[in-house]
Amino acid sequence: MKKVKVSGPKPWWNFTGADEVFEAQNPDQISRLYFPLCNEAGLLSAITPTLNGDIKTDQNHFLTLPVSEQDLHNTRSARQFWVYVAGRGPWSATAAKPKESCDLEAGALWHKLTRENRALGLRAVITNFVPMGQERVEIMRVELTNTGRKPLAITATAAIPIFGRSADNLRDHRHVTSLLHHIEQVSHGVLVTPTMSFDERGHHPNSTIYGVLGCEGDGQAPAGSFPTVASFIGEGGNFDAPRAVFEDWDQPDLDEVELQGREAVGALRFKSRKLAPGKSVTYLIHMGIAKDRKEVLSWIRAYGTVDKTQEALEHTQAFWKERLDRIQVQTDDADFGRWVRWVTLQPILRKIFGNSFLPDFDYGRGGRGWRDLWQDCLALLLLDTGDVRGLLLNNFAGVRMNGTNATIIGNAPGEFVADRNNISRTWMDHGVWPWLTTELYIHQTGDLKFLLEEAPYFEGGRGTILEHIIVQHLAAISNFGEHGNCRLQDADWNDGLDMARDRGESVAFTAVYAGNLLRIADMLEVLKEKARAAELRQKGEALAKHIREDEWIKNAAGHAWFNGYYDNNGTRVEGDHPKGVRITLTGQVFPILSGVATNEQVAQCYAAAKRYLFDKKLAGFRLNTDFVEVQPQLGRAFSFAYGEKENGAFFSHMNVMFANALYRRGFVEEGYEVFSSLYKMAMDAAMAKIYPGLPEYFNGEGRGMYHYLTGSASWYLLTLITQVLGIRGQWGDLVLEPKLTPEQFGKSGQISAEVGFAGKRLKITYLNRSREPYGQYKIESVLVQGRSFPVPDGILTIPRKTLTDIAGPAIDITVALA
Ligand code: G1P
Repeated sequence: MKKVKVSGPKPWWNFTGADEVFEAQNPDQISRLYFPLCNEAGLLSAITPTLNGDIKTDQNHFLTLPVSEQDLHNTRSARQFWVYVAGRGPWSATAAKPKESCDLEAGALWHKLTRENRALGLRAVITNFVPMGQERVEIMRVELTNTGRKPLAITATAAIPIFGRSADNLRDHRHVTSLLHHIEQVSHGVLVTPTMSFDERGHHPNSTIYGVLGCEGDGQAPAGSFPTVASFIGEGGNFDAPRAVFEDWDQPDLDEVELQGREAVGALRFKSRKLAPGKSVTYLIHMGIAKDRKEVLSWIRAYGTVDKTQEALEHTQAFWKERLDRIQVQTDDADFGRWVRWVTLQPILRKIFGNSFLPDFDYGRGGRGWRDLWQDCLALLLLDTGDVRGLLLNNFAGVRMNGTNATIIGNAPGEFVADRNNISRTWMDHGVWPWLTTELYIHQTGDLKFLLEEAPYFEGGRGTILEHIIVQHLAAISNFGEHGNCRLQDADWNDGLDMARDRGESVAFTAVYAGNLLRIADMLEVLKEKARAAELRQKGEALAKHIREDEWIKNAAGHAWFNGYYDNNGTRVEGDHPKGVRITLTGQVFPILSGVATNEQVAQCYAAAKRYLFDKKLAGFRLNTDFVEVQPQLGRAFSFAYGEKENGAFFSHMNVMFANALYRRGFVEEGYEVFSSLYKMAMDAAMAKIYPGLPEYFNGEGRGMYHYLTGSASWYLLTLITQVLGIRGQWGDLVLEPKLTPEQFGKSGQISAEVGFAGKRLKITYLNRSREPYGQYKIESVLVQGRSFPVPDGILTIPRKTLTDIAGPAIDITVALA
């Protein structure tokens, strides 16, 4: 028998220019690949190399059939484009075929696929994007070229099956909801307006219109349409061989009975034409969701010619470029800066997509969780995208007066919903994130007054931001378990530790609460609230001492680390065990990150993690060792196959936080090992099998899973800028404290970065010609806009005022290290 190969083709994508644009060769040979397309108006698309995927605005409004990752294997595509060649038969420009080459070029945020059939002499270049504007529409531009020597007589048909309803109706009343479909053939295509939106708890009148429109490059309308599945595929037909195409049918003349209450398809038939050798023809397809008829018809007005579409594409590219340019890094490894652009895009994507609308993310109804909301703000803060202060202020409206919080974030700013699927759950870590983000905000801006700003509490009451924060912390530390740690309740950061509600404890997050209390105390001192600060400091110190002393464990092999958890039997989770050593990365990351661990403990935790969690083959750290058996007294995570998701995967988020923690504590070499492992895994294209970016995790095969929508992207940028490059605010002033290794300086001995700070664009260049390592190099000289800036001993601080006093938007800073 032949051994099945798990790895894909060797590097199958590469960056092509100075920015994020990449080219992929035969991406249709990699399973389950997808790419996001969206705009701020809220059109959410996923697109694959066979133009599968889906198009929607939220859980209740899907233009096309909702797809999960396993649906991506289907040959049925969400976006089909057929060409019937007289005398030769039908050709699909979107389906994967073994003998046809398929190449992808993609950037932020457009997807251009080239597929060629040499035997036929036809090439299709298909570009998809979602124009940045008010419309919720995706555009597909199809350029067909005759690459042969003979003229071809072609008839093109674009076919986009229209689902036109809520994802809930995939199984729930699937047929009944198709009976609601009011289908209309208009001059440019097909519109579906369901007569009502189906919900047995109370049906609602519907006015949403689902549309597929199209035209030729010069604006000419299609010849007609096949508006129903039955009229397109024909009796006994299917979407792989629609009879309307395969038998070259003329458009039908349907009566009301045949047209209404049917499964619909936007199958647009274009007029037959001759295509001379070397000549091309362009078709434009608009696929979207609109609130009324006027809006649908505006699509053709706005994007109904080749020129208008090209202009919209360029406008869209410029929009995303401006966003991604906000964080720029140049090192000897040119790919790094290009890859960082994709990571920069990811928090913006999660803001737009939430957590449920790409094929891997079949969690349910949409929206982001509380934790995600606050992490994404970290990146938005660094990207300097508008009113972060207002955003943070709104977010605090989700905190309840008892210190818990609403768990689902609504679409409007400051809109919260109590619980997901009406299941009330308390995640015991929720109180730590608002402070971590607020602390960054205050340091980056110097806006201490923010803490004294008033905000409402969720479900009633008002108080200052400071009160919101203190209430969250006091609530957490008034709910201890029998070992003196905060109770785990329904889970912490690790959503999969959800079965230890009664007696479980999270030492990991108790450490974060302790560290937070100490830093809130620091801030209260600056605010001259000394008495309150002393009280919080004393509480924080007591907790930190408890963790340092009582939760520090040693095993028979001589390793030592922190126990991170107690289970529902009140049993300590980590340490030696008859089935093998049990250790979690989370249990180590947070005592280090919070400052609770001593330096000696940091070194030992790292050594233990290296011994038990580091995988030599994939060169990364796992989330936990293999506990071998399910853990019904701790959580569902341990029921997952080992190496997947929250059970021992290479979980990006925890790895980035591990790196962040190590850098903060000055363990730079160790931090770099962790930090660079993620980049290396993601860039190993043959193994990771994803487009550039940072996935939620890498599984045991090194495959990147749950691409794009992950909190690790925010933490990656945070760590890159504030720790690795050491460009950070301290009470509003600029601190430069680079933590770089000789490897990062490369041959040139130079690294530069561009970031926003104090309303200016800072271009910072570090020179380290002799490539001294961190710890050995000192700041030798500093030039700000060409003028020498005095260098005191130790950390370099440039007062905010020095920066804001400089005229013009950009400031050059050159730092020589030696
Ligand atoms: C996901 C969730 C995050 C959770 C984590 C671990 O991580 O979004 O809230 O803490 O799993 O369970 P992410 O996809 O953000 O990396």
